[in-house]
Amino acid sequence: MAKFLVTSALPYANGPIHFGHVAGAYLPADVYVRYLRMRGHQVLYVCGTDEHGVAITLKAEQEGLGYRQYVDGWHQEIQALFDRFQIRFDIFSGTARCPQHVAASQRFFQVLLQRGFIQHREDDQWYSESMERFLPDRYLQGKCHECGFEQARGDECPRCGTWIDARKLGNPVSLLDGSSPILKKTRHWYLDLPALHKAGLDKWYKGADESRPHAAWKPNVDGHVQAMLADLRERPITRDLPWGVPLPEGMDEQGEKVLYVWFDAPIGYLSFTQEWAEAKGEPEAWREWWQDPKCKMVHFIGKDNIAFHVVLFPAMLLGQGQAWEDRNFVLPWAVPANEFYNLQGKKFSTSGGWYLDNDHFFQHYNPDAARFHLLLTAPETSDSEFTWEGFQTTNNSLLADKLGNFSQRVLKFCGKRYQNQVPEASGIHDQNPALVQADEHFAEVGDRLSRHEFQAAARALMAGCNALNQFFDHLAPWKLVKSEDAADRQSCQDGLERCLAYLELLSRRMAPFCPTAAEKLRQMLGDIADGPGDRWGEETEGQPPARLAAGAELGTPEVLFQKLDPKVIQAEIDKLHQRSETSPTA
Ligand code: 2FM
Ligand code: ZN
Repeated sequence: MAKFLVTSALPYANGPIHFGHVAGAYLPADVYVRYLRMRGHQVLYVCGTDEHGVAITLKAEQEGLGYRQYVDGWHQEIQALFDRFQIRFDIFSGTARCPQHVAASQRFFQVLLQRGFIQHREDDQWYSESMERFLPDRYLQGKCHECGFEQARGDECPRCGTWIDARKLGNPVSLLDGSSPILKKTRHWYLDLPALHKAGLDKWYKGADESRPHAAWKPNVDGHVQAMLADLRERPITRDLPWGVPLPEGMDEQGEKVLYVWFDAPIGYLSFTQEWAEAKGEPEAWREWWQDPKCKMVHFIGKDNIAFHVVLFPAMLLGQGQAWEDRNFVLPWAVPANEFYNLQGKKFSTSGGWYLDNDHFFQHYNPDAARFHLLLTAPETSDSEFTWEGFQTTNNSLLADKLGNFSQRVLKFCGKRYQNQVPEASGIHDQNPALVQADEHFAEVGDRLSRHEFQAAARALMAGCNALNQFFDHLAPWKLVKSEDAADRQSCQDGLERCLAYLELLSRRMAPFCPTAAEKLRQMLGDIADGPGDRWGEETEGQPPARLAAGAELGTPEVLFQKLDPKVIQAEIDKLHQRSETSPTA
């Protein structure tokens, strides 16, 4: 049994999250967590909202709301979407609401300062004379010093992706009031990433850990990180903003500066764990996750977060040395970063009307079908997309026709022919090639999940269902049962016993993907699903399921997945186009 600390990127509390986010960083993590728990591992799954930073500060100001009031609204809204998808965290907090967050962030800062990894120095920064305030990089627009793009942001160029040095921005304009700022001296604190690189980050990044699910980092992670490591610089980790984690007592004479949002946000993973520990009455229990060298920390993120989770946060953790009661922090064990997930060929855009209405979606469609489809199309190695047509195919041709139909056929047959009981069996079909194939496919599900290969895991589950349908079709029990020959009738009983045993196995293999349908299937299986459905059953991995007790009572068959009418799907596509054409930024 191992211990896993799983996190999903903290969503910014400044807008709705959409299916793209869910497919990228939340659903795969939830499935992984459910799977690990079924395998008997100890798991803690932590998330919450990212509630500081320039974008949030600006938006709250624009809407005339208090900062806390503003983030509270989005925090609730975001949590509601996770609930609908049945994404279950052990704690879902937020960086402005977690009582432990400020102290944890300030302690990180102080330790790094004491250990010489943070330097305080004066530098030029853009200043708005009209507003009498320093402008954080994100408030600026100008010409990129690398590619010449005129509308680059002060922190990043959207055309060439350069992490911009704001002081070198050509013809800068303040995004707050359109004025031209001037350069003025101010003091900031800088994180010495090159020093942290030498102090161990490099070794950790290159170090091969054989227990990792990947032989090395995922190619998308490695490409990004190598480029960043080749040009590692000191980075300012303070900002002039009215909202955020204040610097530790006495460090900021004017009381104007806060920690950079990307400094405090990942500390949320830790402070939320402390909050979780406090809530269960064991305030020190967070150490069992964060300071146990055997604990495997896994960060599920989107590709735009790679640098922060594979360079910045590990550097911050490593830089703590043993300052927290003589123990080191764990460093990430795996970072399954995903690419982007689009909608019908375009990026999701709330203002452009190119999104799915979550309320409407969950009133009309099955959350388990949505989960399965998102996993099957997850953007694991390249950008991918949600299409309504694809969703219909997954729902109708896979979940309804393969999985749901198999369970219906088997249970209805047993209801009609065997008094809704498990028939007596003697092992006639034990070596049947279709069943042997099903064993292989179901074993692959777990193997893929432990490697964070969710698409392949979902496909393997379906391949297992295919094999079971083939077995049933070849058996043709509707003929055998009426045969004059007793051997045929025995073969029929044996076949149905196998189908029921595999259905019970299927109810557990599908549980991480489709938890509600899995539970429903277990109800339908009556006595044979009497034991807990939360075991993966390592002893049966790759093996045929054990013989069922003859005479066990079955439950009542129900439809697991309703088919979707193509006309309804077409209406959704039409509605999406109409909304986008009439929306303000279309
Ligand atoms: O990109 C984002 O949405 C960030 N809010 C993710 C933060 S993840 C973490 F480090 F907190
Ligand atoms: Zn550029």
